[in-house]
Amino acid sequence: MKGTVLVTGGAGYIGSHACVELIEAGYSVVIVDNLNNSKHESVNRVTEITGKPIDFYPYDAREKQDLTEVFQHHSIDAVIHFAGLKAVGESAKIPAYYYDNNLNSTLILLEVMKEQNVNKLVFSSSATVYGEPSTVPISEDFPLSATNAYGRTKLFIEEILRDMANADKLNQVDSPLKIALLRYFNPVGAHKSGRIGEDPNGIPNNLMPYISQVAVGKLDKLSIFGNDYPTRDGTGVRDYIHVVDLAKGHVKAVDYLLHMDESKSECHAYNLGTGHGVSVLEMVNTFMQVTGQTIEYRFAERRPGDVAECYANPTKANNILKWHAEKNLEDMMRDTWRWQKNNPKGYED
Ligand code: NAD
Ligand code: UFG
Repeated sequence: MKGTVLVTGGAGYIGSHACVELIEAGYSVVIVDNLNNSKHESVNRVTEITGKPIDFYPYDAREKQDLTEVFQHHSIDAVIHFAGLKAVGESAKIPAYYYDNNLNSTLILLEVMKEQNVNKLVFSSSATVYGEPSTVPISEDFPLSATNAYGRTKLFIEEILRDMANADKLNQVDSPLKIALLRYFNPVGAHKSGRIGEDPNGIPNNLMPYISQVAVGKLDKLSIFGNDYPTRDGTGVRDYIHVVDLAKGHVKAVDYLLHMDESKSECHAYNLGTGHGVSVLEMVNTFMQVTGQTIEYRFAERRPGDVAECYANPTKANNILKWHAEKNLEDMMRDTWRWQKNNPKGYED
């Protein structure tokens, strides 16, 4: 066994895939998730895929006593903090809820980690912290900004984590914080078993689940938001990354932090993307080609806040974390469709 990783938000879309990859890489995992955007069934299915039992706590990461109890029951070597709210539109309507949940869960977690002498943390950040990038591909040293409350929670948490790691350096603490800020581009796809995947509540905001729900007959028609962007076919370009590749990036980040010099403090950001931009029309056409399904679509107005192009320069993660994305667009489509087709109602089936 390589060590024990506490995974907050481990019942969610990315967290559940990360748990599978961690277990398969030889880690044991402990999950804390209050199930506010997920179902316990995802944890059962991670157990089913890996054949390993998982310690699951249905706790809110803002509850200090509960979190402390988890650290006291397990010898935690590192933490991956996925727990957070992530809907951009909702964050504009109820920003206080987003700031409370995302910031306070992180602050409480840091407090408990300090008290329990755990100093390795991987944080779920997002390409959203680049705001409206002036050029692509985007490197980690690009200026940071945010265009919505959700994005600001990620930006503020990144700043808090940098301050905390710096403080440990200034105070010359024995085991200072070692932090990896992982900036995800656009996670899509599902585990190849078709047993875990993305299960959004209500009508999906994101492109991939929208396409797959049109294919399965839950939704009528995709609206493509804008066909007049200065891109190769006029539709928005993003860096779609297979969720299993993304999950493996977390394993690499944990490996990296666990092998660092214990006396060193660090807080670095890494882009997790493929480095390739794909347009909305290319996504739709590839999905149809790979799955044989027809996707009805129409062109609609641009969605406010969307940028024309966003894709990563992932060189830093390639070089330092020794990670790179391996799966291609066809894998993303095939795996999304297997999950959607086998679980038309998500985890309710
Ligand atoms: P998700 O909603 O599926 O998973 C988040 C999990 O955190 C859920 O299971 C939810 O129940 C749990 N949670 C939320 N608040 C909690 C709290 N206070 N205490 C305990 N559990 C709590 O989302 P996801 O897509 O798996 O995203 C995981 C992380 O990655 C989030 O922080 C998200 O902001 C970030 N991220 C996601 C994307 C994306 O497109 N999916 C992109 C960039 C960053
Ligand atoms: N799109 C459509 N129709 C839809 C949904 C999306 O045309 O029904 C288009 C968008 O306009 C955009 C592309 O598909 O051009 C991708 O949109 P998504 O909503 O899937 O993803 P975004 O890039 O807008 O945002 C996602 C997450 C954010 C995160 C960001 C960067 O939703 O939380 O990636 O990681 F911050």
